[in-house]
Amino acid sequence: MAAPSSWRIYCFGSLITILIAFLYSRVTVNDILNERLHQVTTGLLEVEIKHAVRPKVSPKVAVGFGACKDLFTDASELLARLNTEIPVTPFHYNVLNNVTELKSTFAYFYQHGAAAERFMSNSTLFSEMIAIGAQLPGAHWALGGNAPVMASRFNLEGCEVLLGTKMSEDLKSYFDPRIKISGGNLASDDIHLILEYKSGDSWGKLTAARANRFIVHSDLNNPTISSLNDFTAELKSFHPQLLVIGGLQMMDNFPFKPGQRREILQKIRNTILDLSCWTRLHFEMASFTDESLLQDLAELVFPYIDSFGMNEQELPNLYAALYKKNISLVSDTYPRVATVLDQMREVFRVVNTRQNQRGCEQHARIHVHTLAYQVIMTRHGSSWKNNLGAAAKASLTANRHTCGSGEIDVAKARLILDNSFASSKHDGGRRIHIDDGKPVSCWREEGVHICVAPVLVCTEVLQTAGGGDTISSAALAYQI
Ligand SMILES: *[C@@H]1O[C@H](CO)[C@@H](O)[C@H](O)[C@H]1NC(C)=O
Ligand SMILES: *[C@@H]1O[C@H](CO)[C@@H](O)[C@H](O)[C@H]1NC(C)=O
Ligand SMILES: *[C@@H]1O[C@H](CO)[C@@H](O)[C@H](O)[C@H]1NC(C)=O
Repeated sequence: MAAPSSWRIYCFGSLITILIAFLYSRVTVNDILNERLHQVTTGLLEVEIKHAVRPKVSPKVAVGFGACKDLFTDASELLARLNTEIPVTPFHYNVLNNVTELKSTFAYFYQHGAAAERFMSNSTLFSEMIAIGAQLPGAHWALGGNAPVMASRFNLEGCEVLLGTKMSEDLKSYFDPRIKISGGNLASDDIHLILEYKSGDSWGKLTAARANRFIVHSDLNNPTISSLNDFTAELKSFHPQLLVIGGLQMMDNFPFKPGQRREILQKIRNTILDLSCWTRLHFEMASFTDESLLQDLAELVFPYIDSFGMNEQELPNLYAALYKKNISLVSDTYPRVATVLDQMREVFRVVNTRQNQRGCEQHARIHVHTLAYQVIMTRHGSSWKNNLGAAAKASLTANRHTCGSGEIDVAKARLILDNSFASSKHDGGRRIHIDDGKPVSCWREEGVHICVAPVLVCTEVLQTAGGGDTISSAALAYQI
């Protein structure tokens, strides 16, 4: 039996009502989100301009170690061209010897969307990958390595920069001539193969949780810090306000002779101990997987470091090194602010309360950059200034770097951070509401100054590699 026509009209009417309500709610939700995005963007840009640093004399920054040529190419395209019939099971190998180990290790990090870097001991396979990768559509070469990225950023931010690395004449031409390079020449540069993927990409049965990259290298110069002697000799006369140490993850799982790695780290320690208290020290963390290397760093280098920069994956590993616990290979891709703040407080306690082994005043500082937000903690009363400006600068730099543009395009950005967050998961944690017009939240607790800035997450990612180094340096340049 057909339904009475009034019933049909009623049904039709309510359908329209629901449809209108649905459309209306979508419009308003989108409007609210857009309005918030605009406000936060304006707010961050205002802080950046207001707190820009314009020192009369350029601050001097020395940056070590290493440089290489980066080949950027598409991860799944390249791996598809490496023949193997063997099914891939995600598993992490510390050193890659063959295609199976490469694909398994890649799969392991890919499914978590976690950045990773591995040494490939098989030079035949590595050359093969370079040859294939360079031919793929969209493949391109660039100057690479943590230290050059940081040096270039400090230079752009108006610092006078000394960079410690060996490289070929060809690679030197990639640098702004204002950057002083100490470390001598190389006939051919180390190459890093950067296998990139986007959020939601799929490879076999796996899907990437977020855009990221897997780096494979076969370096012979960078792991031995071959530039160290020349760099040390020039440091004294350069007399920098800040020495930044990065790139030491090149030593991770490298086949050193017995005792050779500790010897290099001891030399780095001696270099540090030779510096006067005028020079503050920053260490840029990276993807370390070798526990014994992290333990050696914790013993020989970390006790002299004032400031640490890292991402959310590296924070638990620094914590593990300082508290002599096991390292984690992958951790939460989208950690809550409260979780990160709690881990940072623990790390900060060690960095801040440790006997200062250089006998200088203490200047503890930690900067954690995540996809969704930036957090900077500094010891209250230390010589790190301008936390607020630095956090805003870090957030804007994250967007500019990943979107590959100096202009912030709101149409290519979104906010992941909610409009409030908890300051801790423990008792005493409080809810902090973000004021969209003044989006950087800063507060003080127990002698520590903390700022949290939401990131305008880029939705059309052009590059992820070098992001952490760029963000860390941009923030530091605001704080020297
Ligand atoms: C590649 O490595 C895997 C895991 O270590 C090993 O089982 C396999 O035999 C290796 N294959 C070749 C061809 O060497
Ligand atoms: C190195 O890679 C090549 C090319 O994939 C492969 O034929 C060879 O078996 C690998 N060597 C080792 C020791 O696994
Ligand atoms: C932690 O490290 C110790 C010593 O290196 C090892 O015996 C233990 O199995 C590790 N625990 C985990 C959970 O990996």
